[in-house]
Amino acid sequence: MKRMWKSLDDVEVSGQRVLTRLDLNVPMEDGKVSDDTRIRRAHDTVSEILRRGGVPVLMSHLGRPGGVPDKSLSLKQLVPVLERCFGTVVRFCPETVGAMAEEATRACGPGEIFLLENLRFNPGESRNDDSFSAQLAGMGDVYCNDAFSAAHRAHSSVVGVARFLPACAGRQMERELGALDTALGSPDRPVMAIVGGSKISTKLKVLNNLVRRVDHLVIGGAMANTFMHAKGLETGRSLVEQDMSSSAIAVLESATALGCRIELPVDVVVSRELKKDAPAKTVAAAACPADMMILDAGIQSVERIVSSLAKCRTLVWNGPVGAFEIQPFDAATNGIAAAAARNTANGALVSVAGGGDTVSALARSGVVDEFTYVSTAGGAFLEWMEGRTLPGIAALAG
Ligand code: 3PG
Repeated sequence: MKRMWKSLDDVEVSGQRVLTRLDLNVPMEDGKVSDDTRIRRAHDTVSEILRRGGVPVLMSHLGRPGGVPDKSLSLKQLVPVLERCFGTVVRFCPETVGAMAEEATRACGPGEIFLLENLRFNPGESRNDDSFSAQLAGMGDVYCNDAFSAAHRAHSSVVGVARFLPACAGRQMERELGALDTALGSPDRPVMAIVGGSKISTKLKVLNNLVRRVDHLVIGGAMANTFMHAKGLETGRSLVEQDMSSSAIAVLESATALGCRIELPVDVVVSRELKKDAPAKTVAAAACPADMMILDAGIQSVERIVSSLAKCRTLVWNGPVGAFEIQPFDAATNGIAAAAARNTANGALVSVAGGGDTVSALARSGVVDEFTYVSTAGGAFLEWMEGRTLPGIAALAG
C-alpha cells in the first residue's frame, strides 16, 4: 500500500507531549466498561509512546453529550481500566482544553499518561471549530490519530487539530488502514463481499460501490427480503422495505452489467415468531408462507456461499445474514463464519469484517479472533465500504 500519511516511525516522540486521539467510546453498564476491546487495541500506540520517552496525552469522545458536560459520560470512569490495560498511572484532567489543563500536560513526567475530559463536552469539537482545534493543539507537541472508528467525523480532534501540529497515524490506525486496503484497495481476487443487516436503505451506497469492486456479492439478512420482494417472490410477513424495490432492481442490473455475481438466498428459514427456539422450517426462497417471516438463510444457501467462498482469496463482511441474536436463526451466519475462519487458517483467504453487529455475530460464533482483521468501527467502516474518503484520513495526508 502506498501510504500518504506519516506513521509513528516518522515523528520525534522523545520528550514530546503526543496528543493522541483514541476511540474510547466503549459500551458502559452501571458506570463500568462492559467491552474493553477498543481500549486494548490502543495499547500498542500508547506503550510505544511511553517506551520512546513521550507523554501520551489521550483524548476521546464518549457518547453524544451534544456539547455540554454530562457526568454519566465523563472519561474519568475509564481511568481504572486504562491503568490496568496500559500498566501505569493515568492522570485525569477534568477539562478538555484551557490554561490549567495545558499546564498540567507540561508538568507530566516520563512514564505518565494524561487523559483529557470528553471532547464532546465542548460545542467546538463537532463543529470542527478553528479556535477549539487550536486550543486542543496546545495540549500536545505532536498529534497522533489512532481512532479509525471516528475517522468519518469531521471534528476538531479528528480533522482540525492536524492543521496546527505535525500529524501521524497510530499503530492501530495503521493496521486498520492496511487491512482495509488489503480487502478492497488492492485485494487478491476473486473477492467476495457479504452484506447483511436489516435495511437496504442504509446500505445502498455500500452495495453500489461493491458491485464495482468485488466478484461475488452475497446479500443476506432482512435486506435480502427486499431484493426477493423486488423480484416478485413471496415474502409473507417478512421485514421488507417496499419503497426500495426499484433501488434493489437497479443494484441487480448494475451487478449484471459489471460482471459481479450477486448471491441471494435460494432457501430460507421461516417462522411465525422471532423468539428463541420458535418452531421454524426451511422452504425454497420463493415459498415463504403468507403468515410467516424469513429469519435466516437456509442450508442450501449456506452451502452455495461456502462453495463460492472456497474459490475466493479475499472476503469483506458487514452485517449478519440472519437474526443471529436468536437461536436457531443464527445458523447461516455461524456456518459462513466457520468456513471463513477455516479458509483463513489454511492461508487460502484474507478475511476482513467490521461493524457493530458483525463483530457481535462473529464473537458469538467464536471465530472473531480467527479472521485476518475485525474492525470495531461502525459508521466509519460503512463509509469506507461506500468508497468514501474519510475526513480523518484525508487530514493525516495533509
Ligand atoms: C463509533 O462508536 O462508531 C464511533 O465512536 C463514532 O461515534 P459517533 O457515531 O457517536 O460519532
